[in-house]
Amino acid sequence: MNNQMSIGVFDSGVGGLTVLHALQKELPAESFIYLGDTARVPYGTRSPETIVRYSSRVAGHLMRHDIKALVIACNTATSYALETLQKACAPINIPVFGVIEPSAQVAVEKSTNGNILVLGTEGTIQGHKYTEALHRMNPTIKVQGLACPLFVPLIEEGWHNHHVTATVAKEYFAQVPNLTSFDTAILGCTHYPLIKSVLEKIFPTIDFIDSAETTAKIVHHKLAEINRLKSSNTTHSSGQTRFLVTDNLQRFRKVGYYFVGYEPDPIDMVDLTDADEQIVTKLL
Ligand code: DGL
Repeated sequence: MNNQMSIGVFDSGVGGLTVLHALQKELPAESFIYLGDTARVPYGTRSPETIVRYSSRVAGHLMRHDIKALVIACNTATSYALETLQKACAPINIPVFGVIEPSAQVAVEKSTNGNILVLGTEGTIQGHKYTEALHRMNPTIKVQGLACPLFVPLIEEGWHNHHVTATVAKEYFAQVPNLTSFDTAILGCTHYPLIKSVLEKIFPTIDFIDSAETTAKIVHHKLAEINRLKSSNTTHSSGQTRFLVTDNLQRFRKVGYYFVGYEPDPIDMVDLTDADEQIVTKLL
């Protein structure tokens, strides 16, 4: 394994750019290769088997690019595919990181009354991985999941600060029994940090947790521990980032701008194949 290799980052589409952005800030010397599976987005409404299959294809494809670590920036993919990908990558010595543990860790630290809401896609809420992670950290925590599937299309439409998004948020939150008892809510979807300020305005007593930075810190710490960092991360030297998408490059560029304030570049189109998936399945 060569420390000059890139760190692979993937998401079902564009949302994982928030995690990539945090990683670039935390590890300025590292090079990244980001794959957005825009041909198959959304993952959030798919079955667990399909999410594992899609995630394996993406991960297998990234492995062809000689990555030294893999970050699953998607909450839904982390919910269902983290264990499979960790198992596949262990023999070839590629650490695999998800986004659930970091968010759970921040939420446990921040909540004063131990009542935590988890917002996410249908898949993430049904997978209960946030609940499991929170309970591993503190079994007395009260967790309530809330699927908010309309947020993803609204955010991709650019309606971050829009009265329709605020109305939808109020409708969703009205479903939560004893809403006022929750002091913390995890933004358990790549897209939701973009409407954090809208949610904070409507629900001022709830602390909304966005964990991209914590995820980046955990990746930094772990790569340092296993001696996998480029030697120059403490200097201002800048690594390269390459973007791959499986469909609609122009839309990725446009929506990507909403997420990170710049148009991702350079972007290449790739086709994912059965052979990509087999790279992972053969390792299991
Ligand atoms: N990236 C997904 C997540 O964080 C949201 C979009 C999708 O459903 O694919 O769960």
